[in-house]
Amino acid sequence: MPELKTSYLGLNLRNPLVASASPFSKKVEEAKALEDAGIACLVMHSLFEEQINHESRALDFFLNQGTESFAEALTYFPEQDHYDVGPEKYLKLVGELKNTLTIPVIASLNGVSNGGWVDYSRRMQEAGADALELNIYFLSTDLKVTAADLEKAQVELVQQICGSVSIPVAVKLNPFYTSLPNFASGLVNAGAKGLVFFNRFYQPDLDIETLEVVPNLKLSTSDEIQLPLRWVAILYGKLQADLALSSGVHSGKDAVKAVMAGGQVAMMTSALLHDGAGYAAIVLKEFEAWMSAHEYSSVDQMRGALSQKGVANPAAYERANYLQVLTSFDNRMK
Ligand SMILES: Cc1cc2nc3c(=O)[nH]c(=O)nc-3n(C[C@H](O)[C@H](O)[C@H](O)COP(=O)(O)O)c2cc1C
Repeated sequence: MPELKTSYLGLNLRNPLVASASPFSKKVEEAKALEDAGIACLVMHSLFEEQINHESRALDFFLNQGTESFAEALTYFPEQDHYDVGPEKYLKLVGELKNTLTIPVIASLNGVSNGGWVDYSRRMQEAGADALELNIYFLSTDLKVTAADLEKAQVELVQQICGSVSIPVAVKLNPFYTSLPNFASGLVNAGAKGLVFFNRFYQPDLDIETLEVVPNLKLSTSDEIQLPLRWVAILYGKLQADLALSSGVHSGKDAVKAVMAGGQVAMMTSALLHDGAGYAAIVLKEFEAWMSAHEYSSVDQMRGALSQKGVANPAAYERANYLQVLTSFDNRMK
């Protein structure tokens, strides 16, 4: 039997399959079902900065600048009473999950400003979280704000959070940075022990009958793995941090790809929401069967085999591949 054990953020995991932040953690019994199906680590749904500090700078920023031209869009920001999990309830839930589960529990904070809410990282640690994941979900709409300004503020935020806790901190990124490797390196220098590639931005749609901008949440498909695969493969072995792949892991073979690219772990949400917690067992079975069939004895042995450092043609991950891909399509049309 191949060895599935691995580690993430210094935590010992029985296998590399992690449940990424999702509503599963809102009910202890649903989280337990994930553990029973073989999931090795649970990332909780996020506690949002806006939930902690309703008057926070970030919320003002979003309300005043990000959405000013769409009065309807203000309805995306629910009133405090309508959030289903407030900070105290969240902290209590961390403790309940820790009491019930044997797998590590990672609490998740979602915010962008350096406000008082940052103290909650310490409170999550005190509540028993094994690690923290910080999701910096921010969309700049201001013509005057530069990428450098934003990146500096985000690195400072990570530094502040890493300085507040002794448990490891991972940062969940979005893919839209001009120089992702440089920014990733800044986050690691600021203290991040792990980087999660990627958070998905939920794109609003337009209802052309009601003339409204409508929120739109679709589950991912397996095709979406290609974007994080590329970045994990490029960054593998270049940073002093664990890389986690999130987006598009829907099968055991997808999890194999995540590890072969260089992922310390493969994270799943959409497939589990679609097929239920029990689906994790099927994914793990397929993962293990693939390892056996290809004579890999451990996950560590597989890791990074298809990273940019590991492949015979590293340019396949870069621009050089672009022309080749287009030419191969032209050839199909001949
Ligand atoms: C219903 C739903 C709720 C989510 N909630 C959170 C959250 O609270 N915090 C977070 O960082 N990501 C959240 N995510 C993003 C997932 O953790 C994950 O990164 C994303 O869905 C991509 O992975 P997937 O392709 O396996 O779904 C959520 C996703 C879905 C579909």
